[in-house]
Amino acid sequence: MGFSKWYQNAIFYEINTRTFYDSNNDGIGDLKGITLKLDYIKSLGVDCIWLLPIYPSPLKDGGYDISDFYDIHPDLGTIDDFKKLVDETHKHGMHIIADLVVNHTSDQCEWFLEAQTDKISPYHDYYVWSETDQKYQDARIIFVDTEKSNWSWNEKAGKYYWHRFYTCQPDLNYDNPAVQEEMKNIMRFWLDMGIDGFRADAVPYLYQREGTNCENLPETHAYLKELRQLIDQEYPECILLAEANQWPHDLRPYLGDGDEFHMAFHFPLMPRIYMSVALGDGTSIMEIMEKTPAIPENCQWCTFLRNHDELTLEMVTDAERKFMWEKYAPDDRMRLNLGIRRRLAPLMDGNINKIELLYAILFSLPGTPIIYYGDEIGMGDNIWLNDRDGVRTPMQWSDDINAGFSAADSNRLFLPVIDKGDFSFHHINVASQADKQDSLINRLKQLIKIRKEFNFLSSQSYEFINRENVGVLSILRWNETHSLLCFHNLTAKAQEVNIGEEDYVLIHSSPGMKLNINPLDELFSLPAYAYAWIKLRR
Ligand code: NOJ
Ligand code: CA
Repeated sequence: MGFSKWYQNAIFYEINTRTFYDSNNDGIGDLKGITLKLDYIKSLGVDCIWLLPIYPSPLKDGGYDISDFYDIHPDLGTIDDFKKLVDETHKHGMHIIADLVVNHTSDQCEWFLEAQTDKISPYHDYYVWSETDQKYQDARIIFVDTEKSNWSWNEKAGKYYWHRFYTCQPDLNYDNPAVQEEMKNIMRFWLDMGIDGFRADAVPYLYQREGTNCENLPETHAYLKELRQLIDQEYPECILLAEANQWPHDLRPYLGDGDEFHMAFHFPLMPRIYMSVALGDGTSIMEIMEKTPAIPENCQWCTFLRNHDELTLEMVTDAERKFMWEKYAPDDRMRLNLGIRRRLAPLMDGNINKIELLYAILFSLPGTPIIYYGDEIGMGDNIWLNDRDGVRTPMQWSDDINAGFSAADSNRLFLPVIDKGDFSFHHINVASQADKQDSLINRLKQLIKIRKEFNFLSSQSYEFINRENVGVLSILRWNETHSLLCFHNLTAKAQEVNIGEEDYVLIHSSPGMKLNINPLDELFSLPAYAYAWIKLRR
């Protein structure tokens, strides 16, 4: 099977512009800063950059509270800076996608300001109003730590308005055709600048209907299919990636018959990778993969370990959530809503072999992996910061002042750098890992290289084997000419792996582990948290 669709066999990289690189030393990372770092991003083996929201915003929700959908936040640069970034990204042979916040605006958006004061304004109907706060009681509250209701009273309008996220994020009213058109025009506005698509935020919540949980409604899918038609007709090389934090059977419809989203994040898989390595048992990974329905030929999963939000535990059972919280979030400050606000490396106690093992698991499963900026060097978190800021601290480029992120005065930084403890930028930074063969960044680059060499690793065909030993997650991957066996030891002790009478060659293993595998042996021993990918010569 060939890969004509660029997103199907790719590595994505997620960037928070404000904390990536500050080009003008005002303490805030910016678009020019990313442009300056494109060589670095390319050198990782990245094929597509995803930018978190870059639009004007009061920043009550990291920019997901947009006040103007047709501009760039002045702290980050100008539209011209954005166009330049897009062009330069393309010159580097990479793609770039932006965030499309479909569900809501900021309460500081002109539309809402006008909507609340002027009931005959066309913008009034852009939002969901009600005389009572008793409608749609079956809709859950998502930000449970902050919000008490999905309705808030608006004094100026003298009515309640609907919001699935923070009070300051009124939901758009998709029953209004003008809203449907507006969002399409927003898409065109940015796609015309040459971007390669969107990561679409919070897509399950576009419509409300009494007697439902107001998620995944048929009306929502019908509208999302219209967005896809727009892409197919006007921007056929571009993609839509769905953020729908849902169980596999609810997630799958977002890919439709290949006529809705091109990609969707695989939310249910993510926490189970952490669970498996905590339990030394790969069962939950195998189970969720087997509950994942097949996808259309032109689609792809986007798989990930971490992102800019809390590590969400919405797609696990109550018992599993309790286990995850006890294991990975012993301190109350580490918990947020139904999740864990920590980064990958601290979750693995800074154990580089375990971090690499998690990447190896991710890379040996179907899908297109996305890497969260900073996780390629094992950055830490700061649980004392507000909301999810603790996992969004400045990129640690070097052990220079402010981790090489900015030459501004340290107290002017958008967020403080991590300068204490095991994850301080003095120890953890790009520069110090660059020349060390055994560093996390170089191990990850190596994995990416191999992943690309065996491009069928991103395909949908896989089989779990050797299932009698759940301590070793063993995955068989193949195409017409090659077969790879990927063994991952999830436990803290050495495990024996039996290959049988196969003729094989070791492709790759944990560099720190110095695996001694003789292809004449049917059995070999895999050290604690080590992995080995071998190729069968058939
Ligand atoms: C999902 C985003 O990833 C998150 O950061 C944001 O708070 C919500 N959607 C609301 O937009
Ligand atoms: Ca700046």
